[in-house]
This record gives sequence, structure tokens and C-alpha cells, in this order.
Amino acid sequence: MPNKIILAVLFLCTIKIVNTAEINVASECEEDSKLKLIAFSNPDKELICVGANLTTTWVLSSERTEDLTKKNIQFISSKGILQKWTLNKYPFLKTIVIYKSEITEYSLKVPFASRLLIIETIFPVLTKTTLDQSRYIYALDFHSNPDLKFEYGCFSFLNMLQNLTIYNQTLITINSNTFQGLIDLKILKLIANKLKNIDKDTFQSIPKLKELILENNPIEHLKANISSLIYLEKLSLMNTGLKKINLPLFFPMKRFKILGLSNTVWGNTKITNLAIAFPNLRICLANSIDKETDILKELFEEFVDVELRVKKIVRPLDIQISSYKYDITGVY
Ligand SMILES: *[C@@H]1O[C@H](CO)[C@@H](O)[C@H](O)[C@H]1NC(C)=O
Ligand SMILES: *[C@@H]1O[C@H](CO)[C@@H](O)[C@H](O)[C@H]1NC(C)=O
Ligand SMILES: *[C@@H]1O[C@H](CO)[C@@H](O)[C@H](O)[C@H]1NC(C)=O
Ligand SMILES: *[C@@H]1O[C@H](CO)[C@@H](O)[C@H](O)[C@H]1NC(C)=O
Repeated sequence: MPNKIILAVLFLCTIKIVNTAEINVASECEEDSKLKLIAFSNPDKELICVGANLTTTWVLSSERTEDLTKKNIQFISSKGILQKWTLNKYPFLKTIVIYKSEITEYSLKVPFASRLLIIETIFPVLTKTTLDQSRYIYALDFHSNPDLKFEYGCFSFLNMLQNLTIYNQTLITINSNTFQGLIDLKILKLIANKLKNIDKDTFQSIPKLKELILENNPIEHLKANISSLIYLEKLSLMNTGLKKINLPLFFPMKRFKILGLSNTVWGNTKITNLAIAFPNLRICLANSIDKETDILKELFEEFVDVELRVKKIVRPLDIQISSYKYDITGVY
């Protein structure tokens, strides 16, 4: 063998050794066999990393062979950078949970059709490019991340996203730019976000929407033309500042089945107008915590007469994560 090649081989080996030494094989990540952490546990199919330094952790390791069995990964109380290749060895992940962590940089490439949940985590500002490598996700959830900022256009790469939940964040204004790119979005939940105004064109960039939940926001005016959402089946406006709902804004919506309003708004709603706007309405959601006047009781009786089901659910004003726990536990 010519000397040059021997040298090259030696050189490569050296690099390899140095590399291995630098990769900190984080013992913080393990199979979810004994940890059984809170709601998320799914033994054998899952990795849980607690207190990991994400910048160096072994999920990065080029030494590892691909693990095709892992369906879920959770980073709990972890810190550092989630790089484009951090999860390269796990091509079949379905769920990625980042919980109570501190992410300094994010450019993670997430597998096709997966769900990403970011909960109670310090996370960088979401700019136009943050989610560039996450473009094949189906579901995205943000829950109670302190001071998280969403810049306009931050979802613009997520052309395949089906479900978007933003819970207990600060999202005072939304407009048609906010949802640019979410052409396939079916379910949008913006709960407890301090939303005040919903402008006319807000939802025009998400024409496929089926379910729109805007609960627990101080909305005073709903100017959005909901009737342009021809696939809409469910709308909830419980615990908002709305006094009445402007039904003439709604063109007859044939697919629409479920409407949730606070009792004040129900009290100001006429059954005939409802029937015109939503000819196939089946279920009226009311908040069992709201006061129910005699007039309202009569109205609900009328609803029952025309085969409208009145379903009373609990929606506390002072939201607690437990009210929405299903959304998190519904991970698997
Ligand atoms: C994580 O590891 C990197 C690289 O070794 C180091 O620079 C950084 O300080 C570590 N971070 C923490 C929070 O320990
Ligand atoms: C989207 O949300 C719906 C309704 O909450 C749920 O049935 C469905 O499984 C979710 N899809 C994904 C990809 O998480
Ligand atoms: C909302 O998020 C903040 C952090 O920004 C957290 O302190 C608070 O407990 C959360 N509230 C609920 C009801 O989840
Ligand atoms: C709302 O949108 C529908 C369907 O796109 C349209 O027919 C209607 O004129 C619009 N209403 C208003 C008030 O803009």
C-alpha cells in the first residue's frame, strides 16, 4: 500500500477517535421502561431524555445504527441545540415531545407525518425559517411556553400540517399572514391566547378548516367571514368577550354541525337565524359554569324541540392545563 494511503487511513482513524471522544454518550436518554413519566409513557416504543445536554447527546451520534422501532421521543428538562440531524437515526418517530426544556437553537428535521409538542419550554422566536426542516409534520402543539413569539409567516413551510394547537401563549393579533402556507390545515385551536380582534381575512389562507376553537380569549369583535370556510363543521367561541354573534356574516353552511357559545351569546341568538346560517346544526355547546337565565332555559327547550342537542360542558374561565389535558395525553 502506498504510504499516502496508509497515512490517509491513519488520519481518518484519528479523526474518528477524536469524534467519538467528543460525543458525549448521554446516559440521560433511555428506554421508557421504568421512568413512566406522567402522561406520556409508552414503554418499549419510546426514548426519554431527562436533563440531557442536547448539543452533545447521543441521539446525534453517527456511531449509532438506525433504530426503526422507536415511535416516540421525549426531551424533558433538557437544554441546548436541536440540530437538523439530531433525530436522523429515528426515521419512524411519530411523536416528539419537548417538555420543560430550554432550547437555544432549533432547526430540527422531524420525520414525515409526525407530531411535535413543545410544552412549558423556553424556545427561540419562531421566524419564517425556524420550522423549515419540520415541513412534513402533521400536528403541532404549543402549550404554555414562556414568552414564545410567533413571527408572521412562521408556519409558511408547513403545507401538510393538519392540526395546530396554540394554548396559553400570547397571540394578541392574528391575520391572514399568520396562517400563510397552512393550506391543508383541518383543526385550529387557539385557546387562552389573549386574542382580541379577529379580522375579516384572518382565515382566508386556511380554506380546508373543519374545526375552529377560539375559547378563553377576550375577543370582542368577530369580523372574520367564517362562511368562506366551506368545510367548517365545528366552531367554539366559549369564554370570549363576545356579546352576540353576527349571523348574517354566515352564508348557509351546509357542513356545519357543532356550535359552542357562552350563555350570554346564546341568549342573544334567534333560533330562526341559526337555522338559516347553519341548516344542519346538530349540537349546541354551552358552558355549564355560565349563568343560565329563565329565558335561556326556554331557548334551550326550543332547541330540543327542533332536535338540536344542547350539550353542557365545563369550561372554566380560569383555565387549567387539566381542562385540556386530553390534548396532551392524546399523543399516542
Ligand atoms: C453542552 O455541551 C456543550 C459542548 O460540550 C457545551 O459547550 C455546553 O456548555 C453544554 N451545555 C450545558 C448546559 O451543559
Ligand atoms: C388532529 O385532531 C383530531 C381531532 O382532535 C384528531 O382526531 C386527530 O387524530 C389529530 N391528528 C393528528 C395528526 O394529530
Ligand atoms: C400559562 O403559561 C405560563 C407560562 O408562560 C405558566 O406560568 C402558567 O402556569 C400557564 N397557565 C396554565 C393555566 O396553564
Ligand atoms: C363571505 O364569504 C362568502 C363566501 O366566500 C361570500 O359569499 C360573502 O359575500 C362574504 N361575506 C362578506 C360579508 O364579505
